[in-house]
Amino acid sequence: PVPRLLDRFGRVGRDLRVSVTDRCNLRCTYCMPAEGLDWLPKPEMLTDDELVRLVGVMVGLGVTNVRLTGGEPLLRRSLVDVVGRIAALEPRPRIAMTSNGIGLDRLAAPLAAAGLDRVNVSLDTISPQQFRDLTRRDRFEDVERGLKAAADAGLVPVKVNAVAMRGINDDGVADLLQWCLDRGYALRFIEQMPLDAQHAWDRTQMVSQTEILERLGERFRLTPVEGRGSAPAELFHVDGGPQTVGVIASVTAPFCAACDRARLTADGQLRNCLFSRTEVDLRGPLRDGASDAEITDLIVGEMWAKKAGHGIDRPDFVQPDRPMSAIGG
Ligand code: GTP
Ligand code: 5AD
Ligand code: SF4
Repeated sequence: PVPRLLDRFGRVGRDLRVSVTDRCNLRCTYCMPAEGLDWLPKPEMLTDDELVRLVGVMVGLGVTNVRLTGGEPLLRRSLVDVVGRIAALEPRPRIAMTSNGIGLDRLAAPLAAAGLDRVNVSLDTISPQQFRDLTRRDRFEDVERGLKAAADAGLVPVKVNAVAMRGINDDGVADLLQWCLDRGYALRFIEQMPLDAQHAWDRTQMVSQTEILERLGERFRLTPVEGRGSAPAELFHVDGGPQTVGVIASVTAPFCAACDRARLTADGQLRNCLFSRTEVDLRGPLRDGASDAEITDLIVGEMWAKKAGHGIDRPDFVQPDRPMSAIGG
């Protein structure tokens, strides 16, 4: 298809991130309160048919990569089926998933068989105690098993995402890297962004890319990898390579200028940016019988309106109303 997800800054949308549920089975302190959030009521969620239809329209507009996210995507019961149906679209998009890893031990193989290509697993620490404090659930070993199952199922490269947090896991970044190197997982550290439901993010507390690299540099020799494209992470060879570690410096070195992403929420709203203040409702028109051409107009219009960048450092920055868990990473 001719790429049609363009914006006024010359960027082309090719990567669609679909939140398949806003629910989660962890309660990461940096993401949501202990009691959880007000989950979307079932009737507001896209059905499988609606979700696959919208992804199909987007594929027709030039999307080549689909990433399933959450909340925790594995909590959607029909996920294997949804993956199979997305894999049957023409031209077939590459399909990836971002998960906390719980349940992957059971689902990695069926998902791979249905057409899932890759998985990124969120894991901020390899200390079971720290994991419990951070996620409020004692499930480190479930994640460990999930990661192994993903690698065994061929969902490679298996990537691990770790948000670096001061006084919480920043003392363990080198240990986490060694653990991932030993198991063949590609680790990426992430600068924390203002996307928490509690609005407690504090720029002065944030662990920056510079700091992460300093800490890693105490134990490893890091050399930059050339050629990044639209990837969010800056990669470094570890001790001469071939293995790498990455840093997603969304705050101190944003990749907005190369952004090729669009997002669909579990309730069928299209977002042109993680930080956008607007959404366009696709579910309503869909349920009112809109044609693909009508839905296309809504999508193309919203993508054209995409802003140049997130503006986190601007004095007039306002955090989006939806938290990260309801936008889908
Ligand atoms: P691949 O590089 O294709 O493996 O995936 P990814 O890194 O895009 O996906 P993933 O879901 O693993 O995202 C990793 C982290 O990147 C997220 O936790 C976010 O912190 C950050 N991220 C993802 N998308 C965006 C975005 O659009 N803007 C910004 N600023 N950060 C993003
Ligand atoms: N900033 C950066 N990354 C975050 N994640 C969750 N909240 C934030 C935040 N405020 C990460 C998770 C997971 C991915 C989907 O997003 O740890 O890796
Ligand atoms: Fe769940 Fe991810 Fe939020 Fe943790 S960060 S509570 S795993 S949605």
